[in-house]
Amino acid sequence: MKRFKTWTLLGLALLAAITAQARSLDEVRKEGKIIIATEGQFAPFNYFQGAKLSGFEVELAELVAKKMGVSVEWKALGFDALLAGLRQDRWDLVIASHGITEERSRAVTFADPHYCSGGSIVSLDPAIRTTADLNGKVISVQTGSTYMDNVRKLAGVKDVKNFPQDTDARSALVSRRVDAWVTDKFVASIAIAANPGAGMKLGDFVFIERIAAAVGKGNASLAQGYNKALADVLADGSYSALSKRYFNEDVRCK
Ligand code: ARG
Repeated sequence: MKRFKTWTLLGLALLAAITAQARSLDEVRKEGKIIIATEGQFAPFNYFQGAKLSGFEVELAELVAKKMGVSVEWKALGFDALLAGLRQDRWDLVIASHGITEERSRAVTFADPHYCSGGSIVSLDPAIRTTADLNGKVISVQTGSTYMDNVRKLAGVKDVKNFPQDTDARSALVSRRVDAWVTDKFVASIAIAANPGAGMKLGDFVFIERIAAAVGKGNASLAQGYNKALADVLADGSYSALSKRYFNEDVRCK
């Protein structure tokens, strides 16, 4: 009986996953609310200020949603769960600094990029600045990130240690458990400025990437509605103002 129940539940979950229909732009508009998931552990892009979700991407998504004529219901989850949840229709959109990759594009539909950046080397040792300097070194990265994928591809790296949160990858560097941390360039600069005593130094890019929000695979209407609203925000000066407030520069893709 117990076995039967388990299988029934599994079957139902599978059916729900297969039949789940991503909500179209019209459906989202009709409800007046878009459900957006992010991580909340990737300052300054998405992080908690006390109990409040904040950051460049959080504020940007609020601006975009406003142009779309809807309010935002936020969900904060582990980085790993975000794109997977889109496939199960647990939220409408994810904005969490995902780089557009071929592999991810097979599973989700990316919107237009909202900033351009890249994975940069951070180290306590001024002699570790370039990808060549990573030879024979131990590197920390966030699990499931493009930093992990790209550092793993480097020949000569001794070991890649991955951590569920980027902040833990940073701690591993600060406590000298690794030789370098690879993370987003802006995340790195802001972490360095916020912890002057830690002695972290910013090195070269390992790779560059275009960062975008994602919707369920094939949810073209929602992607288009979001893209149009993003284009408005990019054109009307509000993106610029927001970006300068966080980074002292405009971080849009050029
Ligand atoms: N840009 C990297 C990637 O695409 C890291 C994103 C990390 N985002 C986060 N919210 N922790 O995988």
